[in-house]
Amino acid sequence: MNEKELMKYIPSSTEIAENSELFAGQIMQFQEMMMMYNCAIREVRTKLEVLNDELSIRDTHNPIEMIKSRVKKPVSIVEKLQRRGYPIRVESAMEHLKDVAGIRVICSFIDDIYKVADMLASQDDVKVLEVKDYIKYPKPNGYRSYHMIVEIPVFFSDRTLMLCVEVQIRTIAMDFWASLEHEMKYKKDVEGADVIVKRLAEIAERINQTDMEMQDIRDEIKKK
Ligand code: GTP
Ligand code: MG
Repeated sequence: MNEKELMKYIPSSTEIAENSELFAGQIMQFQEMMMMYNCAIREVRTKLEVLNDELSIRDTHNPIEMIKSRVKKPVSIVEKLQRRGYPIRVESAMEHLKDVAGIRVICSFIDDIYKVADMLASQDDVKVLEVKDYIKYPKPNGYRSYHMIVEIPVFFSDRTLMLCVEVQIRTIAMDFWASLEHEMKYKKDVEGADVIVKRLAEIAERINQTDMEMQDIRDEIKKK
């Protein structure tokens, strides 16, 4: 990644300052934190890409369709710290927020989700701090996805930091659903919202049926 690409992920001083005078005096530290989390994302992305390459040779199919990533926006960092009652400081964000760095892995099949998760978790330098299996235990609204908080070492010039990355692994269909459902986040009180929520929940079930059937068919084909 060249410097220009890197800067796309790191908010400018103005953006940080605009979003919160509360981080005042820590603009440099804030930018440094964003740079570090961006590096943590790249480390985890590379691990996932290596696994994908290897499995595509061994199993003749790519378990990973796509990898998306993001560093949490300054405004969201401030909001979350405020909501949880923590000081609006860089040290506080690094200590309390486990999702400043986020990676989303999109797989074709449910089996691949668990395969990728297990392989990542079993690597020597990956420490799994938390797992939420919303596929086995979907949320009441129908949300499905496999979430992990992992901690990995990132090597800088004068120190090695253990940094957290939130990894969300889901199928293409689950991802499609979650993107649309996310649009309802700020519209819970609009007219007809209850109907939309109900329809989304029903679709989530149908999507799950489809995901399971696709898995089943693939297993059948593999046996032939
Ligand atoms: P927060 O990190 O504060 O959200 O709480 P948490 O740590 O309990 O989060 P959780 O692991 O449940 O979810 C983390 C992320 O998963 C969210 O920021 C979303 O990106 C995604 N997510 C969780 N639940 C939903 C949902 O119901 N719908 C959609 N579209 N995304 C969700
Ligand atoms: Mg979280």
